[in-house]
Amino acid sequence: MRLGPLNLSSNLFLSPLAGYTNLPFRLVVREVGGVGLCTTDLVNARSLIENRDKALKLIETRPADSPLAVQLFGSVPEEMRDAAVIVEAKGAVSVDINMGCPVKKVVNIGRGSAMMTELDKTAALVRGMVNSVKIPVTAKMRLGWDDDNLTAPDLARALEDAGVAAIFVHGRTREQGFGGTVNLAGIRKVVEAVKNIPVIGNGDIVTPQAAKKMLDETGCAGVSIGRGAFYDPWIFQRTLQYIASGKLPPEPVFAERVRVMNRHLDLMIEVFGEELGCRMFRKVAPWYSKRFGPCHEFNKKVVQVRTREEFRSVLENYVRWRQQFLDDHGELLPRFAPAPMIASFMREPEPASTTREHIPVPKGPVEVW
Ligand SMILES: Cc1cc2nc3c(=O)[nH]c(=O)nc-3n(C[C@H](O)[C@H](O)[C@H](O)COP(=O)(O)O)c2cc1C
Repeated sequence: MRLGPLNLSSNLFLSPLAGYTNLPFRLVVREVGGVGLCTTDLVNARSLIENRDKALKLIETRPADSPLAVQLFGSVPEEMRDAAVIVEAKGAVSVDINMGCPVKKVVNIGRGSAMMTELDKTAALVRGMVNSVKIPVTAKMRLGWDDDNLTAPDLARALEDAGVAAIFVHGRTREQGFGGTVNLAGIRKVVEAVKNIPVIGNGDIVTPQAAKKMLDETGCAGVSIGRGAFYDPWIFQRTLQYIASGKLPPEPVFAERVRVMNRHLDLMIEVFGEELGCRMFRKVAPWYSKRFGPCHEFNKKVVQVRTREEFRSVLENYVRWRQQFLDDHGELLPRFAPAPMIASFMREPEPASTTREHIPVPKGPVEVW
């Protein structure tokens, strides 16, 4: 996979997840393997220029955390340019721009012209960055504001002209938030809109099959995985194997999940110190336990841990408690196995006869109904 001058080891990317894609998690994903490029959480350009601790912590890295992209956000062209220069000097191999959804809903406000003005402004900001650094500049966007305002193809084309090396597109509109189905046809339109640069599709990839479907149906050059990687840091490695062989590798066994979870905590403590690292890990551990089978006993206790020792003791007690759900070979009895993960765009549509008309909820004291 090429991204500007970069040669990446795979076309699978780790999406930015503010609060989650910190150095420890990126190291975990890299150790498990298969990821081509990881991105930091979004970093405020101005905070970075002002050397704020929070921004510096977000871009903290080490040699094993490579190749790394830093994601910037900001709307002042000079600040974005100066922040990109800092990011390059700190050793990132690319800089990504969080576009959010810069093109507001254009209905009723002079449709095309408002959009073009916005596009021109954005393109100028990007050009300023591209001209100031040698590393590739990329952009991440949604499909648009809502289904009537799918602006991503126009934005992608304008950004390609401004010099971006790749486009990341989350296949949902801003109105959709994180719900509803990822729109593969919408991603395809972005792929078709650009001339030479790679488009990387994103949204709801929770299995290797979903990654393959997005690649096949949109023609995108790569896929970027966010929440799917948090449930399953093995998803990159398994996706590469699935695409190469056509065979779905088995899911990691419980012992492997526990090994990686322990490693993740160790890295959190290394990077953030024991107290903060453990506190932060309270929201990380339940992502791992989602695939453990029955886990309420674990989740209940893990949100209180303050030290590594406490965590190990919670885990030991849980492993003992979990035995009641295992067969003679130590495998989870099938009736306790977690349901398979399914991406929104891989669910079978319900047959028309079983779908109900949407009945609007009337205004009133609905909270007591
Ligand atoms: C908790 C959380 C934090 C996020 N933070 C960022 C961010 O910092 N920058 C960004 O561009 N997108 C961010 N996103 C969006 C994701 O990068 C991604 O586009 C979206 O979650 C869809 O992909 P996924 O289904 O693989 O997670 C965030 C999403 C979540 C759930």
